Amino acid sequence: MKILLTGGAGFIGSHTAVELLAGGFEVVVVDNYSNSDVSVNDRIVQAAKWQISRQKDDKLKIDMDNLPITFYYGDCRDGMFLDSVFRENEIDAVIHFAGLKAVGESVEKPLAYYDNNLGSTLVLLNVMKDHNVKKLIFSSSATVYSGDNKMPLDENSKTGNCTNPYGWTKYMIEEILRDEALADKEWSIALLRYFNPVGAHASGLIGEEPNGIPNNLMPYICRVAAGQGLGIRGQKLGKEYQKLKVFGNDYPTKDGTGVRDYIHVVDLAKGHVAAVSYLYRHSGAEAINLGTGQGYSVLDMVQTFAKVNDVPVPYEITGRRAGDVAEVYANPAKAKKELLWQAELGLEDMVRDAWGYMVKKCE
Ligand code: NAD
Ligand code: UFG
Repeated sequence: MKILLTGGAGFIGSHTAVELLAGGFEVVVVDNYSNSDVSVNDRIVQAAKWQISRQKDDKLKIDMDNLPITFYYGDCRDGMFLDSVFRENEIDAVIHFAGLKAVGESVEKPLAYYDNNLGSTLVLLNVMKDHNVKKLIFSSSATVYSGDNKMPLDENSKTGNCTNPYGWTKYMIEEILRDEALADKEWSIALLRYFNPVGAHASGLIGEEPNGIPNNLMPYICRVAAGQGLGIRGQKLGKEYQKLKVFGNDYPTKDGTGVRDYIHVVDLAKGHVAAVSYLYRHSGAEAINLGTGQGYSVLDMVQTFAKVNDVPVPYEITGRRAGDVAEVYANPAKAKKELLWQAELGLEDMVRDAWGYMVKKCE
């Protein structure tokens, strides 16, 4: 079975490519490398070999010297280009990761976000229809839920009231996909709502590569920890990484800091492999949470990171970040029932693997 991954060179896409290869699937990656590096291509192959060589199940008889993966450099908004990818490959299903994802940047450049995220999806849908490929997994986000829900969030929790253009693009694309699935019953679509993906592949070969100063907690912790001794690719880390800023300790949570549902990116990638099978026993468009159901506070993250990796993570408490809420965590029951999938890795695995990737990068 051949799966097309748009944005397959990115953080979640690269880990999914590895899991698909290790599961005996053929993979086609399309990426414009706007938020990734072409060197990821080779590292995906190396990480897949690393993983397959450790796999106990050899029933799949995977040819390690000739892993079935093809990489295309191109933009998903370019219909002629995408059409040529479909002509050259018999695609069975698509996982649409490609898109812009920085919340703050989306407020400054809303048009870029609507153009890229909506534009790439519309072009992709039309090309898929032309080639009669109607199985799609879409990278949605917990950000589609409104801020006034009770926790945990299940798929019937209220959506909308997004606080930024990025969130609206995910909300709007979900609506577009639902409309299309209503109009054409041949579609089978999974709208996977990710919670907070963190961590990296256990090989240390692929991981998260944010451009510029990271907005998200885990990559920031990694940089602060790296600043305690390591440099990134030989460069000295700037002043902004001397301490982590903990955004608020006056939330109604166990220690006052924000609580989120962090999920190991390898678990998340496995969720996509499970969703591919789901597409074959389902029709219509269905939203499904991918989270662990377990919330951890910012201080849980900092302390576990420091303990597991034996590295200090200095921090200071600052004011709340605009737009943040106290707690966000999933009810993951639907994924267990429908995808036959649940997260297996814990917080210690997440912090260990995130740091393992950072250390390898600095070598
Ligand atoms: P990422 O930026 O690492 O990966 C996205 C990839 O898409 C990048 O390699 C980028 O170069 C590529 N891309 C962007 N626009 C493109 C275009 N027009 N054509 C071709 N390639 C394009 O992000 P990620 O963390 O891997 O996220 C993947 C998807 O999951 C995104 O849609 C994101 O919005 C969504 N998501 C991510 C998170 C998260 O916290 N990482 C949470 C919820 C949802
Ligand atoms: N935090 C800090 N200091 C930092 C960065 C973050 O204290 O330097 C805190 C935040 O206040 C929050 C928690 O760490 O309490 C997690 O923040 P992140 O920025 O890592 O993640 P968010 O939950 O804010 O948002 C992320 C993605 C969104 C996505 C959402 C899904 O950035 O795109 O998860 O739940 F929609």
